Amino acid sequence: MNVVILAAGMGKRMQSALPKVLHPLAGKPLLRHVIDTARGLSPSKLCVIYGHGGAAVPEMVGKLAEQTGAPIDTAKQEPQLGTGHAVMQAVPQLDDSVPTLVLYGDVPLTTAASLGRLVEAAGKDKLAILTVEQANPFGLGRIVRENGSIVRIVEEKDASEAERAIREINSGIMCIPTVHLKKWLNALSNNNAQGEYYLTDIVAQAVADGVPVVSAQPSAEWEVAGVNSKVQLAELERRHQLNIATALLEKGVTLMDPARIDVRGELVCGRDVVIDVGCVFEGRVELADGVTVGPHCVLVNARVGAGAQIKPFCHIEEAVVGDKSQIGPYARLRPGTELGEDVHVGNFVEIKNSQVAAHSKANHLAYVGDATVGSRVNIGAGTITCNYDGANKFRTVIEDDAFIGSDSQLVAPVTVGKGATLGAGTTLTKDAPAGKLTISRPKQMTLEGWTRPVKTKK
Ligand code: UD1
Ligand code: CA
Repeated sequence: MNVVILAAGMGKRMQSALPKVLHPLAGKPLLRHVIDTARGLSPSKLCVIYGHGGAAVPEMVGKLAEQTGAPIDTAKQEPQLGTGHAVMQAVPQLDDSVPTLVLYGDVPLTTAASLGRLVEAAGKDKLAILTVEQANPFGLGRIVRENGSIVRIVEEKDASEAERAIREINSGIMCIPTVHLKKWLNALSNNNAQGEYYLTDIVAQAVADGVPVVSAQPSAEWEVAGVNSKVQLAELERRHQLNIATALLEKGVTLMDPARIDVRGELVCGRDVVIDVGCVFEGRVELADGVTVGPHCVLVNARVGAGAQIKPFCHIEEAVVGDKSQIGPYARLRPGTELGEDVHVGNFVEIKNSQVAAHSKANHLAYVGDATVGSRVNIGAGTITCNYDGANKFRTVIEDDAFIGSDSQLVAPVTVGKGATLGAGTTLTKDAPAGKLTISRPKQMTLEGWTRPVKTKK
């Protein structure tokens, strides 16, 4: 099958410098949704028609093709003279021996199942149109039937009053026998209310040529909803998020409120996962069995081990959290953080590019960067790894069973030996030997006979 995705329209109502089809839905450009769905149908050719927005659209498509190693053709439509004219740009790339499926780059949520039904309805030699009955069909092309058979499509602006009363609309998505398509495109005229070459006019040509015209219906109306404005984009985002939430619920995930979760990527959950309100998941996030995520957490490309608890207001990015660990509230795990089993990371603790082994704790107000931390280590409140001298970064090593007193600074590169203790307030500039107390602060003293100054009376 050939797939042609129309994406040349300008999207004026988006009120944005970004081409319409590049606006994200669930963190992914609209056009990317359509390409991903199309690829699910294993097309032999995939061609994106672009126009408005300069090089941004072909650049995105080129990068995607490179990343995935599957070619995507692009063709420029300039100027944009209508949907029929848009498909004409793809003609040289279309393989005659298979049908051509036309999709829209601004209709992101059509399911592969519905497209599969459309393609099946078309078979090798029929024209199949994805249509829906809509309560408010205003602005859309109407499906005109005679004795139940489709005879043509009429656009709102060209329709008679009787035709405007028709509620079955053209989604724009069609599957067409390619040899016929090429011939019909050649015969299009722009003699209509908008002076455009309408793709929809091929339907009347098919009827004239005796090619059967059939229809298929999507499972839901939102599958054919297009995005023309930020309002419509926001509506489809909510719809999509609700679909994702429903799928999670069906797999047994507990969502405290399915209307208050945002998944912008892939969220993979084990059994008995509980997610509280207001969480955002980006990229690929894995939550193993029994994980709980408290309210208002953001997780980006992260893996959380079985039984771990993420308490409210945490930000976790490119990090791994070990089984049974407890994170937050208000913790930040930055890229390269790898926590072992039963690690506790408390409020206002930031960890970056560090490994922390099993049963270690940093419960309050600490910065651990570029560090290797052993097992059963206790990192006191206010501890900071001074990993950066303004030019280069250095590692801190804290071995098993070390105890770092509160408010210590570890000036890297530096090592705290196994079982070592640092006294509170230590500024460690040399290695601390294993098993010993190291302390770096002036001895405490008390001045006898000192009195507080008093205000002098004027
Ligand atoms: C088209 C259909 C209409 C259908 C409606 C569904 C025609 C003539 N009409 O309406 O029957 O109900 O879609 O939304 O086909 N595009 C291009 N190049 C162009 C014109 C459009 O690439 O020259 C792309 C747009 O970017 C968009 C899609 O085609 O993705 C549809 O264009 P749009 O203007 O939104 O649809 P209409 O022509 O109004
Ligand atoms: Ca439209």
